Amino acid sequence: MLASSFLTPAQIVAELDKYIIGQHEAKRHVAIALRNRWRRLHAPAEMQKEIVPNNILMIGATGVGKTEIARRLAILADAPFVKVEASKFTEVGYVGRDVESMVRDLAEQAVSRLRQRRQEEVKAQAAQAVEDIILDALIPPIKAPAGVSSSSLGFGSPEGNSAEAMPSSDQELNERTRERFRQKIRDGELEDRRIEINISQGNPSVGIMGAPGMMDEATMSGLQDMLGSMLPKKSRKRKVSVAEARKLLLEEEAAKLIDMDEIKEEAIRQAENSGIIFIDEIDKVATSGSGKSSGPDVSRQGVQRDLLPIVEGSAVNTKYGIVNTDHILFIAAGAFHVSKPSDLIPELQGRFPIRVELQSLTKDDFYRILKDPKNALTKQYQALLATEDVALTFEDEALLKLADIAAEVNSEVENIGARRLHTVMSRLLNELLFDVPDQLPAGTALAITPQLVEERLRGMVKNRDMSQYIL
Ligand SMILES: Nc1ncnc2c1ncn2[C@@H]1O[C@H](COP(=O)(O)OP(=O)(O)OP(=O)(O)O)[C@@H](O)[C@H]1O
Ligand SMILES: [Mg+2]
Repeated sequence: MLASSFLTPAQIVAELDKYIIGQHEAKRHVAIALRNRWRRLHAPAEMQKEIVPNNILMIGATGVGKTEIARRLAILADAPFVKVEASKFTEVGYVGRDVESMVRDLAEQAVSRLRQRRQEEVKAQAAQAVEDIILDALIPPIKAPAGVSSSSLGFGSPEGNSAEAMPSSDQELNERTRERFRQKIRDGELEDRRIEINISQGNPSVGIMGAPGMMDEATMSGLQDMLGSMLPKKSRKRKVSVAEARKLLLEEEAAKLIDMDEIKEEAIRQAENSGIIFIDEIDKVATSGSGKSSGPDVSRQGVQRDLLPIVEGSAVNTKYGIVNTDHILFIAAGAFHVSKPSDLIPELQGRFPIRVELQSLTKDDFYRILKDPKNALTKQYQALLATEDVALTFEDEALLKLADIAAEVNSEVENIGARRLHTVMSRLLNELLFDVPDQLPAGTALAITPQLVEERLRGMVKNRDMSQYIL
């Protein structure tokens, strides 16, 4: 990738700013980490091997933007990215779903990203092939067998002089009709015409019976794929409309045009060098307190131990090949309400050298979160009501009040961060949303005033019992 096409740290922060308010420290750290991936790939080869990513641990109360930062980063990174919840590894059985699955998911993601991209590249070519198939189904081409003249077929003129002209004019006629129909197809005039096409059924899926635990997931699915591809591909004739045929055939034709082996190789390379794994809820596998290790604690520690080799760098077998995890960037996040980062086993703490604390959100932040982000709640509701031709506006004072109320409920009842804005907002707009369009028909302009906010919400905030349930 060219330097110019890869975002600089400041640009990354600016992009994140469009969606996330505040949390500057966290944004800076992830921006540096992301840019470092690019820097490393441009360092001399022998140095590349030495440079390991500085994994990040994000710490912050619930609802302050940890997951949101990761989500936006994934889009920006333009790299294979997976997000897993650490807690899910403790759910099944004693140690849970095997931890290596996150690397397999990453490989899977890398492959599907690349495949999609390649398919996009060959789309025009595939569309052309599809058009040909549809045309052949509508007006089959006449193939003039070489050396066979029309007279020998019995429908030429008795004289030999036109024997040359006849087949070519048949063919010409056929060609002309085909071209006319080609144009009709392009103009969309034949979308509903039914044609018969061959559709391949894909690889028949092969079930493998085996005692669970005898094979890991990678071996299992690899084996299934292999057996599947050994069986002959089935194809089936189907009568469908031209429009449907186009949909069905496009993917098939595109698949024929791309080189899966090349994609697999490139995908593994990308996963290894620019892959990012976001481990959310890491605090849920920290062992609270010290000393006594009860059942769940043992399981949690087990997960941490399983995580170690992956974060440190090991080879994981995936169905696309071996993925080395040495240079994958890991970002872990947790609220650490009950446990502390120091409750993680020491080895794991060491694997996340960069600690970023996310700030608790203030009244002021809430105000900006309501207003500024590209996906701000106010904008979402405006877009919803715009579909009914109802114009919704929020007075600035009203937003300040809403922010104030959200902050108050957070401090009085429970701090759930920016998520509080969702509950407050839905409470505020609930009735309006119900009344459109029956009571408030299309064309209405609704302005949310501070008085309205006061009226709908203030009483509830005062009444603690009520706000516990409603807001
Ligand atoms: N700083 C922020 N700027 C804009 N929106 C935010 C911010 N923080 C949180 N939000 C919004 O609040 C919601 C919850 O945020 P998020 O999922 O990031 O919380 P979290 O920090 O991961 O919390 P948890 O610890 O509970 O997982 C999201 O819808 C997000 O859009
Ligand atoms: Mg989260």
